[in-house]
Amino acid sequence: MLLEQARDILAEIAQAAPHTPAELEQFRIRYLGSKNVIKALSAEIRHIPNEQKRDFGRLINEAMQAAEIKYQALKAQLEQETESQQAAALDLSAPAELWVWGTRHPISITINRVIRIFERLGFVVAEDREIEDDWHNFTALNTPEDHPARDMQDTFYLRGSQNLLLRTHTSSVQVRLMEVQKPPIRIIAPGRVYRNETISARSHCQFHQVEGLYVDEGVSFADLKQTLLYFAQEMFGATQIRLRPSFFPFTEPSAEMDVYLGTETEDARRLTKGTGWLEILGCGMVDPNVLANCNIDPEKYTGFAFGMGIERQAMRLFGISDIRLLFENDVRFLRQFATVV
Ligand code: DAH
Repeated sequence: MLLEQARDILAEIAQAAPHTPAELEQFRIRYLGSKNVIKALSAEIRHIPNEQKRDFGRLINEAMQAAEIKYQALKAQLEQETESQQAAALDLSAPAELWVWGTRHPISITINRVIRIFERLGFVVAEDREIEDDWHNFTALNTPEDHPARDMQDTFYLRGSQNLLLRTHTSSVQVRLMEVQKPPIRIIAPGRVYRNETISARSHCQFHQVEGLYVDEGVSFADLKQTLLYFAQEMFGATQIRLRPSFFPFTEPSAEMDVYLGTETEDARRLTKGTGWLEILGCGMVDPNVLANCNIDPEKYTGFAFGMGIERQAMRLFGISDIRLLFENDVRFLRQFATVV
């Protein structure tokens, strides 16, 4: 009787044909699980007459092996089937699904390019607040009380305050930084600035600047020139720069830098008003008064600084003719820059 049962189980296993993962799992539980039928039957061996014990044991062993072999084979087969089904469902010629990421703003793209160039020269990025006080925006930068830049006409003061204002340039970051860090200092400070100007195609009351500052022992005007030449080459592919004497309260001597774009293309002629030269930035050697205002010894240290507007560079890079487009955030305009880095 028990011998019969063992034979039946063996036959059952031979015939079983699980097709789905669920059926295979049922097979496993029935013949290989912790409470499987083979185990249960083998526990009955004590009821078997002695002369049949050997046969019974052999049948039980065979059943266990057969179950294991069948299970492994079916499992491998099922896995292969699923894989080929998945492969068949995969259409490699189908067009990629369009994934709508946000796009980078042309201003950010331009700022990032400037940063990448200066990072190669060892400059690190510094950022600071847009609401500044008079000291950091003007006084510490050697800008006298009666300087026209301090006029209410040019600067947005915060309501009810003669001390707090929207910074008019990123030069304020120079002061913020030199107050807390001592030379060597080599930073680049991108950010938004504000001036009380009428909005038109060519000017806006908010725009962006990147400030640069390098203070150490023995920094010279030659270092400034070489740094700016490298920048002009990398950013504009320009071969020549021109430094024109100028005035800023916080640098002495001061200069304005033009890059040579040539007059070959219509674009270059329009941008440079036919001269071939495009004005890019203001610069100079940091005025000793500014260093002293930040508790840096002007006898020991010298430095150079520069500040450039970003909008005009972005407009030139991307052929944008109206500055207002950069602030309206019309997604139809912005999406055009999806693939630009
Ligand atoms: N802050 C000046 C501006 O907004 C630009 C500038 C000129 C920055 C000369 C500098 C500099 O650091 O040295 O027009």
